[in-house]
Amino acid sequence: MTIPVITIDGPTASGKGTVAARVAQTLGFALLDSGALYRLTALSALEAGTDLGDEPALAKLASGLQVVFDGERILLAGREVSDAIRAETVGVAASKIATLLAVRAALVDFQHSFRQAPGLVADGRDMGTVIFPDAQLKVFLTASVEARAERRYKQLIGKGFPANMAALLQDLRERDARDTERALAPLKPAEGAHLLETSVLSVDQAVAQVLAWYRAVGH
Ligand code: CDP
Repeated sequence: MTIPVITIDGPTASGKGTVAARVAQTLGFALLDSGALYRLTALSALEAGTDLGDEPALAKLASGLQVVFDGERILLAGREVSDAIRAETVGVAASKIATLLAVRAALVDFQHSFRQAPGLVADGRDMGTVIFPDAQLKVFLTASVEARAERRYKQLIGKGFPANMAALLQDLRERDARDTERALAPLKPAEGAHLLETSVLSVDQAVAQVLAWYRAVGH
């Protein structure tokens, strides 16, 4: 029997992490926050002083990640880094190393290993297009750049990080461009993906829509 997968892809700060976590919780499914893997690799590189263009060294860091996902906590080699990987510097570095083939390839098997019964909700950029092309339901979340900047601002302030709205808007636009224009696994809706525009939707409404689509495909 195939283990069901729901993929939730979308641009930075579109709220996919929150929606994915809630959908997974409701269905009792496992959760894959694929962006966290790129962030963990980036954090490891920044801490080790690895050049962000050194593809073989970065791929080695990615394939050697000692990571444990324990609910909301993320442990890297036994150390809690749940908040550290959310820093904007780490996000920017993650989006840079995510353009490298060897880094992406090093993370494929690990991502597939999250597909376990009774099911998986996977969020990222290429969950529906590359990693789980046979997913039962594919969702592509969008939101205006202003709505996303506001969400990221609140998220950063809430975690005690400094944040500046003008800088965030520029950062988001640059990250969007990097994610959509890169040659490998660019950000785009998978074929057959349901589009969900969340600028004016609450988290509850977005979650309810994803669950309704999932029921509609026969689950
Ligand atoms: O929170 P935010 O949406 O900004 O980022 P994230 O989902 O935590 O992912 C961090 C970075 O990893 C993104 O900027 C993407 O460039 C990259 N990424 C990717 O290339 N492929 C994925 N499946 C997930 C993330």
